[in-house]
Amino acid sequence: MTGIRLQGLRRDFAGFTAVADVDLDVEDGEFLTILGPSGSGKTTLLALIAGLLQPTSGHIVIGGRDVTGSPPQERNIGLVFQSYALFPHMTVEQNVAFPLAVRKWPKARSQQAVGAMLKLMQLDGLGGRRPLQLSGGQQQRVALARALVFQPSILLLDEPLGALDRKLREALQVELKQLQRRVGITTLLVTHDQEEALSMADRVMVLDKGAVQQLDTPQAAYLRPANRFVAEFLGAANVIQLPDGRRGIVRPENVRLMERDAPDSLAGVVQEAIYLGQSMRYYVSLPCGASFICTAPFTGQALKAGDPAAVGWSAADVWPVA
Ligand SMILES: Nc1ncnc2c1ncn2[C@@H]1O[C@H](COP(=O)(O)OP(=O)(O)O)[C@@H](O)[C@H]1O
Ligand SMILES: [Mg+2]
Repeated sequence: MTGIRLQGLRRDFAGFTAVADVDLDVEDGEFLTILGPSGSGKTTLLALIAGLLQPTSGHIVIGGRDVTGSPPQERNIGLVFQSYALFPHMTVEQNVAFPLAVRKWPKARSQQAVGAMLKLMQLDGLGGRRPLQLSGGQQQRVALARALVFQPSILLLDEPLGALDRKLREALQVELKQLQRRVGITTLLVTHDQEEALSMADRVMVLDKGAVQQLDTPQAAYLRPANRFVAEFLGAANVIQLPDGRRGIVRPENVRLMERDAPDSLAGVVQEAIYLGQSMRYYVSLPCGASFICTAPFTGQALKAGDPAAVGWSAADVWPVA
């Protein structure tokens, strides 16, 4: 059983706090995404867990064992970074076999493990090629194979798909999720892409300035954000003033476009109408200066900039934020 427990984990750099007292419990076999803007401490957090950096304070427990002071090689962790960091002079097979050579696995066992891993990653037949003779997606699969071949207890992925174009990235997201489920390995995936974070994980941890803003299921974080930062980082949000003085958010898909004189609607003008294929995104401005984002299925007809419109929503779709 390999869960991860972080207790008050902190890392300062010369008076600057990159990771601020993070507490986290990851269950055995769980897939957790860590989402945050650039500079929020995501890479630092993974480096602490991997043992590549020492914390200023706090503890790291992996599989029930306190590894805070242990060197990386004693933590049995598989790592993949955005820059695949493959050895360019080695073949695919040699790259994947490398962690086994370091661990002094016997040759026969090593060959068998490498063969099985290449097959699992759909890289059979490519073992003799060098990294530069592969596509970006194939290189990333080699990096994953190399991270998994020695049967690590934990897989840490730092923006592993960030360098790929959108279509390939989406395909690999599905593959990675399936692979993680099949192998059953406890996985932390760092990303700054909210769709990736929401679509892949059992739970998502949102970081800002090194501090945890929310740790929740993707759906709960999207629909019931803990604060305005999470609300706005996880997607477009309309922030409105509530009668009790608090603020609330409404997601664009929950804002309805209505007739100008419909009851319980606010009249305005379409500022921008953007065609997105299956849907339209409208920016509707109101006389008071407020502006609403609203998405609606594309039904063949659409409003255009300058058209009169009105917006409305149900109270049930408003979530109060601090
Ligand atoms: N070795 C270091 N020395 C000083 N500051 C660092 C060092 N590593 C990271 N930082 C700072 O810590 C913050 C978090 O960095 P990082 O963990 O790389 O963020 P992320 O991966 O979320 O983009 C950044 O402001 C970064 O400049
Ligand atoms: Mg980073």
